[in-house]
Amino acid sequence: MKQIIIEGNHLLSGTIKIGGAKNSAVALIPAAILAKGDLKIKNVPNISDKDALIEILDLLNVKAVEYQNELLINTSNIKNALISEQLSNRLRASYYFMGALLGRFKKVEIYFPGGCNIGSRPIDLHLKGFEALGATINKEGSKYIIEAKELKGTEIYLDFASVGATINLLLAAVLARGKTIINNAAREVEIENVAKFLNKMGANIKGAGTERIVINGVRELHGAEISVIPDRIEAGTYIIMGALIGHNLTIDGINPNHLKVVLNKLKEMGVKFKTNKHQVTLTKTNQFKAVNVRTAVYPGFPTDLGQPMSVLLTQATGISQFEETIFENRMGHVPNLQKMGAKIEYERQHATFHGPNKLHGAELTATDLRSGAALVTAGLIAEGTTIINDAEHILRGYERIITKLSDVGAKIKIVDV
Ligand code: UD1
Repeated sequence: MKQIIIEGNHLLSGTIKIGGAKNSAVALIPAAILAKGDLKIKNVPNISDKDALIEILDLLNVKAVEYQNELLINTSNIKNALISEQLSNRLRASYYFMGALLGRFKKVEIYFPGGCNIGSRPIDLHLKGFEALGATINKEGSKYIIEAKELKGTEIYLDFASVGATINLLLAAVLARGKTIINNAAREVEIENVAKFLNKMGANIKGAGTERIVINGVRELHGAEISVIPDRIEAGTYIIMGALIGHNLTIDGINPNHLKVVLNKLKEMGVKFKTNKHQVTLTKTNQFKAVNVRTAVYPGFPTDLGQPMSVLLTQATGISQFEETIFENRMGHVPNLQKMGAKIEYERQHATFHGPNKLHGAELTATDLRSGAALVTAGLIAEGTTIINDAEHILRGYERIITKLSDVGAKIKIVDV
């Protein structure tokens, strides 16, 4: 097990450079197998989810070479193969090989995906979409065999604007015959990034980033190059840390337009910051106003920042209400924060914060990726030493987090126990 140990209460100043978006990169890598030839993905974050996807590429006989933050992929010798339970289980985004292999080979055998345990996270919308495109689905235990004689474009209505289902259906539809329309599509910026990559490969996708995406199927896709957009969740996490304990802390290499809702909420709380085209710089704020936060699909407040944001709510004066609307089980950080001295009442998807509370170091356990990020945030402002068990969760989505924080003054280390 990996443990993160933090000696709290050291001011952060300097610059933190943000990497490529996890949720884009984990879709761009599977998307690459739809093309014949050479592909280059730039600004790939160095996270363990990426390593798991490269193992899947290897299994499919797809060559992937990493050079710094670039990933060079060659699909010339690709072979369809069963993706084992052990590999599917490593991360949520293994499910993008459903759409990609179905698109490329009209057949995929794969197990139910893994990922953070933050709710039941069914994949029924993905499967219904594949069926609408003409695929049949057989399930043996947790293994799915999805195949089609031919994929045919159709009009799909998603019951919920799911990020995963929208991208998976894009992947399956780009090589389908005719026109596919995805209604009530998710609008996350990562989806635009994926559509841009597919269009550079020769696909014909219009409307990505809106709730109606139109895909005109093409016969084949060719090599292309794409850069992963900046990670708005990684950026948001460091911005929240900066709000709490930063002084002249710059979060660099971001697109502030992707973080408007978060920055607006911070402004409402009285956080002092300045933005320019690619940066946010925070200065020390002494008092935060209580606010209400409700997560929602894009462009609403991102569910992935709800947990780090909770730490800021423990420091606000008065009562703050927090509501998580996307996942049923995203409060794993709360008992940990309570252990540190936070006054929070909560039930499944609601929490009430009575702040401000002085936090003290404690031994904690990360229950998922973003709860882990919240615990790191709390450890940075706590009095004394905080130990975070099961820190592997954090490395799934935050590249070089220990170095990035140490470089701006945090006293933080990671150890194997
Ligand atoms: C993706 C992100 C995750 C983020 C989430 C919401 C990746 C790899 N993960 O997860 O970081 O927190 O978007 O922004 O990009 N649902 C169904 N049936 C389905 C699909 C989804 O009921 O077939 C439900 C889910 O249980 C959840 C909601 O829809 O309650 C949203 O899920 P979705 O947008 O699909 O999230 P993920 O793709 O799992």
